[in-house]
Amino acid sequence: MTPTISTLLYLVAAVCFVMALRGLSSAATSRNGNLYGICGMVIAILTTLLSPAITKYTGIIGGIALGGIIGAIIAKKIKMTALPQLVAAFHSLVGLAAVFVAGSALYNPKAFGIGAVDAIYTASLVEMSLGTIIGAITFSGSIIAFGKLQGLISGRPLVYKGQHIINAALGIGLIALVVFFTVNQHHSIFWIITAVSLLLGILLILPIGGADMPVVISMLNSYSGWAAAGIGFTLNNHLLLITGALVGASGAILSYIMCKGMNRSIINVILGGFGTDPAEASTAAVSDKPVKLSSAEDAAYMMSNARSVIIVPGYGMAVAQAQHSLREMVDVLKSQGVKVRYAIHPVAGRMPGHMNVLLAEANVPYDDVLELDDINSDFGATDVAFVIGANDITNPAAKTNAASPIYGMPILDVERAQTVFFVKRSLASGYAGVDNELFYRDNTMMVLGDAKKVCEILVKSLKGSH
Ligand code: TAP
Repeated sequence: MTPTISTLLYLVAAVCFVMALRGLSSAATSRNGNLYGICGMVIAILTTLLSPAITKYTGIIGGIALGGIIGAIIAKKIKMTALPQLVAAFHSLVGLAAVFVAGSALYNPKAFGIGAVDAIYTASLVEMSLGTIIGAITFSGSIIAFGKLQGLISGRPLVYKGQHIINAALGIGLIALVVFFTVNQHHSIFWIITAVSLLLGILLILPIGGADMPVVISMLNSYSGWAAAGIGFTLNNHLLLITGALVGASGAILSYIMCKGMNRSIINVILGGFGTDPAEASTAAVSDKPVKLSSAEDAAYMMSNARSVIIVPGYGMAVAQAQHSLREMVDVLKSQGVKVRYAIHPVAGRMPGHMNVLLAEANVPYDDVLELDDINSDFGATDVAFVIGANDITNPAAKTNAASPIYGMPILDVERAQTVFFVKRSLASGYAGVDNELFYRDNTMMVLGDAKKVCEILVKSLKGSH
């Protein structure tokens, strides 16, 4: 294949990736977005395989087969709620790849067209250093993020005295090492740069609390994109450059959207030490104030007699996989003439679009699913707010308690509905570890139980009552 044709095909692949991102921006077009992504990747891989520079295929095909099989098995087995840590694990591999590419360019610069051993072009040395720094930080940082989300490391922010000074010192040290490396090209300096970057990745992510991990993952996603773009520079591969920049930019935008959803700055996320260990959060001290306990049957009765109901799904719905029975419940209510809509908070669940994906999976019509800004003013005129497995996103402390870690986060104003049902297993707090005063309000009814089981009982009661 001539270089002109391969450049052209890489361009087509890049356009496919742009279309994929565009498609993935809405649940309605996400399937097409995925298809574009697959097409782009197939074109990119085939074009690379047909490059005249590749003379042996055994290693490549073996690698694709092995990686493909492992990836397919993991994708089949993974639970929706474990996706964030899977993404973290995958990012770590992109980071490691960037380190390896930079390392092989150092040992075999001729193959990369960047000079000879000990006579590598200065610009390439800088690219190599940046590639290995970003790659190593992404690698070790993603492993720590994975460990925190998987519960292997405490999700609590591990803050210690002088952490910012140590990180700043390591950052300055890295700059000095890169200058030193570009001047003398010592291989040992390259590996010291890599080791310091690995340490920095660990130290940067350890102080960040569990609740902020999704933002961190999206940030690491962005880093992995820039690492790939760095590899693109080293390999002089335009497609990698474009794709890396797309991933880098979209990861950064996603982090920004999440921070906006929580009303926090990215600096606050990185330096804030916010959040608690999820395990500890669920057993956090619960107030002994009285609550009104209710049952699924009561909720069914109230909702079938309501004119309007707003459903507020949260992380617990994802854990219970209650979306299908929830939709069935809504179908019955609608058939009985009740107006039912879903209210989606921008950070409900544990990743952006978490609730939208689950509801789409259960074939909930897109028009019934409304974003916070579009539905929040309707709660005052709503008979029943049905909060299922959600907590923090409804907590008024975000508006009233300046000392609360969730202060400033916009919330869904469920309290303004005539009656609020909370479906959850206990009175425990949500991910941010903050008690929710709504549980003790006069117009709140607690339906304690697993979200899916409660929905199933609700469906039976609703069907039985008509
Ligand atoms: P949470 O505040 O974490 O509340 C979820 C609730 O679900 C828990 O209180 C839990 O109570 C309940 N639950 C768990 N398993 C359940 C089950 N099987 N059946 C019924 N209920 C169950 O979730 P949320 O309201 O969705 O808020 C999201 C939180 O994640 C926010 O703090 C947000 O800032 C944070 N966060 C999200 C994102 C993104 S992008 N989504 C990013 C960063 C941070 P019980 O244990 O009593 O059942």
